Amino acid sequence: MTIHKAVIPAGGWGTRFLPATKSQPKEMLPIVDKPAIQYVVEEAVASGITEIIIITRQDKSIVEDYFTRSVELETWLCHQGKTDLLEVVKSISNLAKIHFVREKHPRGLGYAVASAWELVGDEPFAVLLPDDIVIASTPCLKQMLDLYDKLHSPIIAVQKIPLEDAQRYGIISPETYDYPCCLIRDLVEKPSFEQSPSDLAIIGRYILTPAIFPLLVKASPGIGGEIQLTDSLRILAHQQKMYGYQFDGTRFDVGDKLGFIMANLTLALQRSDLKPRLKRYLEKLVGNNRQSNLYLTEANRSM
Ligand code: G1P
Repeated sequence: MTIHKAVIPAGGWGTRFLPATKSQPKEMLPIVDKPAIQYVVEEAVASGITEIIIITRQDKSIVEDYFTRSVELETWLCHQGKTDLLEVVKSISNLAKIHFVREKHPRGLGYAVASAWELVGDEPFAVLLPDDIVIASTPCLKQMLDLYDKLHSPIIAVQKIPLEDAQRYGIISPETYDYPCCLIRDLVEKPSFEQSPSDLAIIGRYILTPAIFPLLVKASPGIGGEIQLTDSLRILAHQQKMYGYQFDGTRFDVGDKLGFIMANLTLALQRSDLKPRLKRYLEKLVGNNRQSNLYLTEANRSM
């Protein structure tokens, strides 16, 4: 069955990015000149998804506004003769058919995904977490959808991580270490370094079947007091085949300050209008730092 629906949970608080996210959703923070969530929507569309369900909550209406047509702005840009910008602005609302579901009480990722049940219906679907931006020559989700065509079972994107970071991720326990696709024996959300079953962390791309929904709606809160998607995936993995897929591409955690800065620099360096000046600036910055580190070393030596 061809997958044409994707769910993007965007109801989180963005605590890792406070105070910037106090009055602004983290998904709307710009990476170069587009909000983070747009990269994820574009990845879904480039992978063949035609219908997107964005899960938001109260106070996040600017996410809805962003993907909705702004006739006033379009008219103004038209009057100003700014045709390039007009096309850019118009294309945002034409990306896909986008639905919004507002969570009444944000209770975690699992709860957010369950809120899309009615709109997803009885068909397989994709989930993309907007904190994770993946730069790849073939979109990460497209790689997974191609694999789904062969496997017809849930697939979770995974990536090797240093074990000391295990407590930040869901971790899979693979049946065998086959690359790039392995059968999942078990999963655990945010284990300690000592309890992590492997170094393969879940990255925010999933292909799921509707069998996940009944599990999610009756799930109890897990780690952090939240309904965790991983906990229901764990039950499902014990009932049917589920695969981990080490995708081809570079992932940035843009919900994290360092990941956000790295994504901005990497994507800006891919832009011909920004690259030459940014590169010169970075070379100068690194050169200056090297210079000041040399001064510091000299100063320490003479103390
Ligand atoms: C979520 C998932 C986790 C996954 C991570 C990837 O965690 O629960 O399993 O590894 O996304 O970004 P969160 O970052 O929302 O705490």
